[in-house]
Amino acid sequence: MTDRSRFDARGGGPIRGVARVPGDKSISHRAVMLGALANGVTEVTGFLPGTDTLATLAVFEQLGVQIERPADDRLIIHGVGLHGLSAPVAPLDMGNSGTGMRLMTGILAAQPFLTTLVGDHSLSRRPMGRVLDPLELMGACIDSESDQQGGKLPPLNFRPVRSLQGIDYRLPMASAQVKSCLLLAGLYALGTTRVTEPAPTRDHTERMLRGFGYEVVKQGSEVSLEGGGSLSSCNIHVPADISSATFPLIAALISPGSELVLEQVGINPTRDGVVHILRQMGAQIELINQREEGGEPVADLRVIGSALRGTRIGGERVAVAIDEIPALAVAAACATGITEIVDAAELRVKESDRIATTVAGLRALGIQVEERPDGMVIHGGQLRGGQVDAAGDHRLAMAFAVASLRADGPVEIFDCDNVVTSFPDFVPLMFGLGLNIYYGPRD
Ligand code: S3P
Repeated sequence: MTDRSRFDARGGGPIRGVARVPGDKSISHRAVMLGALANGVTEVTGFLPGTDTLATLAVFEQLGVQIERPADDRLIIHGVGLHGLSAPVAPLDMGNSGTGMRLMTGILAAQPFLTTLVGDHSLSRRPMGRVLDPLELMGACIDSESDQQGGKLPPLNFRPVRSLQGIDYRLPMASAQVKSCLLLAGLYALGTTRVTEPAPTRDHTERMLRGFGYEVVKQGSEVSLEGGGSLSSCNIHVPADISSATFPLIAALISPGSELVLEQVGINPTRDGVVHILRQMGAQIELINQREEGGEPVADLRVIGSALRGTRIGGERVAVAIDEIPALAVAAACATGITEIVDAAELRVKESDRIATTVAGLRALGIQVEERPDGMVIHGGQLRGGQVDAAGDHRLAMAFAVASLRADGPVEIFDCDNVVTSFPDFVPLMFGLGLNIYYGPRD
């Protein structure tokens, strides 16, 4: 346990009301990055003011980009062009954010100055070989730390190279972060950079590059671009984050008598796996007012308390619901029957080992769970009150808070401060909808 923060979640419900969860984290990171690298002024609305995305913003300020914040969720970014960044005077701190660090790695690999990227305790243990290895094939020069198995870890030190070379790269794992890192490096590379994915992953980088006037070619599982172009500023509206929406959504589903509308949620088909999986479990979720905003599909989600049944989550469904698996595990605990989660080994290298943390937390709340190398088997049952360790992982803390709605006593959740990375107003928003949740230091 790295801090003494605590949620005291005392159940409640039904979950009722209309809410808008904060802006999408993936899109907010990319909006700052592409806005900074574009020619001209980019205005962003709906930006997520979480500590992950604020770290990306601060990093670009250190790289000489002027960013105004007239309101919490609005940014005015004075782009400096692809070749306009300046050398920072100190290491760049990505905080808790794997997305921030891996995408920045693609950009910094191509800069004509020395830089260092660092992160917090959790990020410093996350694998970076997945981006460093292909970048080295492109000609980048990046030094890293290594773990006992020779895996590459932060901090990362970037040395200037004369130029990068485009590559044709088959991703060894389904990862939007690696794909995006290589596409960003590809903007600076000679020739074509082509990435082939083993399964579809979120495509916000490709969509946003097109929005900034950069041609990106998609053919089946391949995505490619030519280096040497430029980005033209544009205005970006960030939809509400479907990953954050998942917590009130599942809270409403598992609380009888609930009725909730979540407004303006991004339902990009590379992110909406959670809706399909929950429907397969018997959830009544309606997508209303479907439209497209700023190149991304959005809708309002209307959900009512529903009886859920166990299911199997595997294959291509996993990558398009990867961040929602801890919350889905809570839904599975409240369902009748068994839920099997497979093909999800990537969960082991997220902000925490999400398989181990989810299994331990559900067991602490009285649920029978079998741990597998690439997932888990959850037996739906009666949740007990108890104490769980979120292991500094924002999504685990929020998932266990939601679980308290079906527990027979209070749930205390420790090491939950990182909820501010993605959902800073989680506690007041959920409290307003009917979850009795309090935040405070551990006694
Ligand atoms: C993200 C990609 C996913 C996801 C992360 C955000 C992104 O990671 O888990 O929260 O914004 O590209 P991987 O690409 O490592 O699967």
